[in-house]
Amino acid sequence: MADTNKSIHGEWSSRFAFILAATGSAVGLGNIWKFPYITGEHGGGAFVIIYLLCVAAIGIPIMIAETMMGRRGRQSPINTLEVLTKEAGANTNWHYVGWLGVIAGFLILSYYSVIAGWSMAYVIKAFTGSFSGESAAHINSLFADLQASPVQQIFWHTVFMVATMAVVAHGVQGGLEKAVRFLMPGLFILLILLVAYAMTTGAYLQGLEFMFKPDFSEITGASVLTAMGHAFFTLSLGMGAIMVYGSYLPKDVSIAKTTIIIAGADTLVALLAGIAIFPIVFANGLEVGSGPGLIFQTLPIAFGNMAGGWLFGVLFFVLLVFAALSSAISLIEPAVAWCVENYNIERKKACVIMGGFTWTLGLGTVFSFNNWSGVTFFGATIFEALDYLTANLMLPLGGFFIAVFAGRIMLEKHSKEELDLSSDDLYAIWKFLVSYVAPAEVFIVFLHVLGVFGIFS
Ligand code: PHE
Repeated sequence: MADTNKSIHGEWSSRFAFILAATGSAVGLGNIWKFPYITGEHGGGAFVIIYLLCVAAIGIPIMIAETMMGRRGRQSPINTLEVLTKEAGANTNWHYVGWLGVIAGFLILSYYSVIAGWSMAYVIKAFTGSFSGESAAHINSLFADLQASPVQQIFWHTVFMVATMAVVAHGVQGGLEKAVRFLMPGLFILLILLVAYAMTTGAYLQGLEFMFKPDFSEITGASVLTAMGHAFFTLSLGMGAIMVYGSYLPKDVSIAKTTIIIAGADTLVALLAGIAIFPIVFANGLEVGSGPGLIFQTLPIAFGNMAGGWLFGVLFFVLLVFAALSSAISLIEPAVAWCVENYNIERKKACVIMGGFTWTLGLGTVFSFNNWSGVTFFGATIFEALDYLTANLMLPLGGFFIAVFAGRIMLEKHSKEELDLSSDDLYAIWKFLVSYVAPAEVFIVFLHVLGVFGIFS
């Protein structure tokens, strides 16, 4: 059935277009903003190793599963799960996994947009020369001022949300594909440049050592959960973003190979970001565990002090905004596609409704950095609670169910036909990973966090 079907929303124009779009979804604030600061908070090398293992053993197999399920179902994740459930003759409750994803998408986008808004504010700061020749202390105060100002943050949050919805309203080829075409190469080149600058700081080796020399005594159950959650977050897994992109994938594209390219590019960008940032942190005596402000407190120092720093600073933050935009559109696409399918309303209208809702939720994050910083849940601010709930719990849980569905519920002949792997051995390896390894890992990490084993923490 899936052979002849096409999505009503359109299709990518080529395999390359899908690679760009899915890489656009994967590479974003997660790689450049989040990966360095959580690596800093969790002690460096050992955390990086656990993260890399999670990408390889859980992330890639689940990414293959999501893409494959999307392409077979050809609809938004909620409806795709319904179609596939019927095809497999399984229990219809599986479509709640699609709902879990849609909710996770809203929650993530609500804070993602605020952080992307910070990046927009930094484009202007870079443009007006606010960093030039400035000390680390001054750069720090620029960030503190932004965090303290709800008005500025709401302004940029609004601009970013409107931009996201404008792209999504234009649909698969018109909006999504065009937005990501020039972005990846540009970002990549700038990161290499930043790494080159990092080499001149005098703390390059110290930075590398922090990132790659493991000290497992730094690792707690919470670190393992964060590393695993980040593997899902950075690869856009567990909530249907990759599934919905898979539903626009032409039939003749090899899913496994394509997925490995995407995951590889995503990982490379994160590692480059870390290699660029940590030497700057150490060279300027900054705190590695300073949290979500880390890139905003470090990179401007580099731009303020390097030759051509004005231009590179502007370019970097512009590209960061675009990287965030190409991820943001995939966070809301499952919900928009579902709205269009079920209510037959125009894409544009669906975007206005969904965007308005997410924007409102985002205010919670804005205020969590200032007026409501004292409002906490289990000791976490609104932003921290949303981040924990989505990245550490909802995405791994969604991924768990997706893996079980692809490995154990879908009929073997269907997944085999859709994946069309060159050898039966490869298929058997994938199937083993999604059926047993990935779900078991998620399960064990959850048990640790619940304190069932009482070992780590
Ligand atoms: N992968 C994106 C990033 O790293 C975030 C994202 C998460 C996008 C989940 C879609 C779905 O920034």
